[in-house]
Amino acid sequence: MIDATPSVFDASLSEPGIDAFIDRHVPDSAYTYYGSGKAALRDGLAGVVEPGENVVVPAYLSPAVVEPFRELGLEARYYAVEESLAPDFDDLEARIDDDTAAVVSVNYFGFPQPGLERIAALTDEYDCYHVDDNAHSPLSVHDGTLLGTHGDLGITTLRKLLPVPDGAVLYRTDETIRERFSPSSLAGRSDRVATTDCRFVATSVAESVLQTSPSLYQSVETVLADGADDSSSVDPEGRYEAAKIPMSKVSAVVADAADPDAIRTARRENFRAWQRVLDGRGDVTPLYERLPAGISPYEYPVRATDPDSFRAELEELGVVGAHSWPILREAVREDDAYETSVRLADDLVALPVHQGIEPSAIKAVGDRLRE
Ligand SMILES: Cc1ncc(COP(=O)(O)O)c(C=O)c1O
Repeated sequence: MIDATPSVFDASLSEPGIDAFIDRHVPDSAYTYYGSGKAALRDGLAGVVEPGENVVVPAYLSPAVVEPFRELGLEARYYAVEESLAPDFDDLEARIDDDTAAVVSVNYFGFPQPGLERIAALTDEYDCYHVDDNAHSPLSVHDGTLLGTHGDLGITTLRKLLPVPDGAVLYRTDETIRERFSPSSLAGRSDRVATTDCRFVATSVAESVLQTSPSLYQSVETVLADGADDSSSVDPEGRYEAAKIPMSKVSAVVADAADPDAIRTARRENFRAWQRVLDGRGDVTPLYERLPAGISPYEYPVRATDPDSFRAELEELGVVGAHSWPILREAVREDDAYETSVRLADDLVALPVHQGIEPSAIKAVGDRLRE
């Protein structure tokens, strides 16, 4: 079975840890751990914004991501994106005004958002902050720079890389952001072992047992899904409230034991395995044709002509981790300006490439898909 996330028992947990990786790539950047990317975004901006200002974010985004901005009294304005996931720059620029505090770029699926440098040039021109949202892939390096550190501040989410219940990093690259940063009670790593930690470890143990039975696995997943990932079961505000936590002890232990290079290598191999398996299928188009050096893919995203039946086909073969992304806010869905984002969200199927999967398992799925 190919499930959505790796297990705590993966061999890729054998040091040197996430800390050492970040220090190697961004020796000058101040960074702080959080329980979630959303809490990190809140603290990162809190010292430099005023209520009544606005933040311009891509329309192709999970609804809960703007909740920290709302809590700070900021209006969230959505900019349209192109098929390539680059900003529609005319639309983006038209939404910036004197009250714009920040523009957010998103490195989707572990790849730099196309136009990243142009976004940085725009935020310089309009004298606002550039937030480099790299929630999807803590280990991706683009042009020698760690994704998440291309802006004035940035975030990354460990939960999307490691078998952890929570965990995120706030990067503070800009001098003013650093000076005005005042960590809230959500900053840092918790020393306490909480009940959620115990439940997470228990679930992980259960997962390894349940690998053999996809249907049993799925029913257990459903019971335990609250807060585990981009589920539609909780409203955006509720998701944000649940995300207001420091990084748990269990996440810290797993992050300290992780081997970043081994994880990135495994993810890249699995990305290529899906490329080979789906090559030549007329009803499935990869979102990314190339896998540049340094990229640690979060998933293997494709656009399918019939996403529901493609997902069902995969599930039948034991790939339970394939999913659509994101669930768009209704206001985005109903606005013609965001037509491309809506089409992308409707067509997209993201396939798991995490380090807990053997490339041979993906090849086996490919063999059966061809039958
Ligand atoms: C693009 C993007 N940014 C930010 C976040 C927020 O990260 P977290 O769930 O750690 O709060 C997510 C999470 O789903 C995301 O997909």
